[in-house]
Amino acid sequence: MNNSPIGIFDSGIGGLSVFSELFRIMPEENYLYFGDTKNLPYGDKSKDELIAFSKNIFDFFEYRNVKAVVMACNTTSAIAYNVLKEKYDFKIYPIVQSICKNIAQENYKKIGVFATHNTVENHAYRNELHKYNSDIEVFELACPDWVNIVENSLKYNLVSIGNIKLQLNKMLEFNPEKIILGCTHYPYLLDILKILASDDIFINPAEYFALHIYKDLQEADLLNTHQNFSPKFYVSSDPEQFKIPSEILQKINNNEKIIPIRITL
Ligand code: DGL
Repeated sequence: MNNSPIGIFDSGIGGLSVFSELFRIMPEENYLYFGDTKNLPYGDKSKDELIAFSKNIFDFFEYRNVKAVVMACNTTSAIAYNVLKEKYDFKIYPIVQSICKNIAQENYKKIGVFATHNTVENHAYRNELHKYNSDIEVFELACPDWVNIVENSLKYNLVSIGNIKLQLNKMLEFNPEKIILGCTHYPYLLDILKILASDDIFINPAEYFALHIYKDLQEADLLNTHQNFSPKFYVSSDPEQFKIPSEILQKINNNEKIIPIRITL
């Protein structure tokens, strides 16, 4: 069981920000990453669609005998996790529900959240933070263009920078102490965001999330400590379009190109 894979999924390259953090603290685990690029973006899909996509991906991972599935997607964690959580034997880690306890314990009074439409409309972050501290004021703001900006490497173009500035200014009017990047695509915009606002205001949930998963696997005695594996990548549409960011390639194989395997679910 310890050597069994850990499945990670998201709609596209966003969840690689979580994979990157997991790989940093547990490099010896056997990772399978699935990017559901055919159905991207998830941010405006219906609840039924998101449950169906997630179920297909869980089944794909179940068939590969995973010991755990990491829902490295805020949107499906917010919408599909509650429906699917009892249906599988492996561990399931949803990003939103796994990190809010730690953030709520920091005693912040005002927290901002950037996320997709679905995550914002469901108040996934506000509800989860309030479970641990109902005094926190939470302002959630959808940034529907940001996933496209990241997936298509458009972040340095002027229209994108204008869009990022506009959303950030709306957020800063709320005067938050911290801003959670509540969509796994958004940490890829951090280099721009940090020029426009103070450096330490942003929370990349991947850092809390990876630590939570590490501790939980350790407690359950499920860590792999014996064998080394190369991560495997799967997508649901054209593999050539799936561009693994160079900082991640650098970490895993010294910058060699990886073409993921295309899977039809
Ligand atoms: N990156 C995902 C999330 O964390 C989904 C983004 C999308 O496909 O809209 O919510």
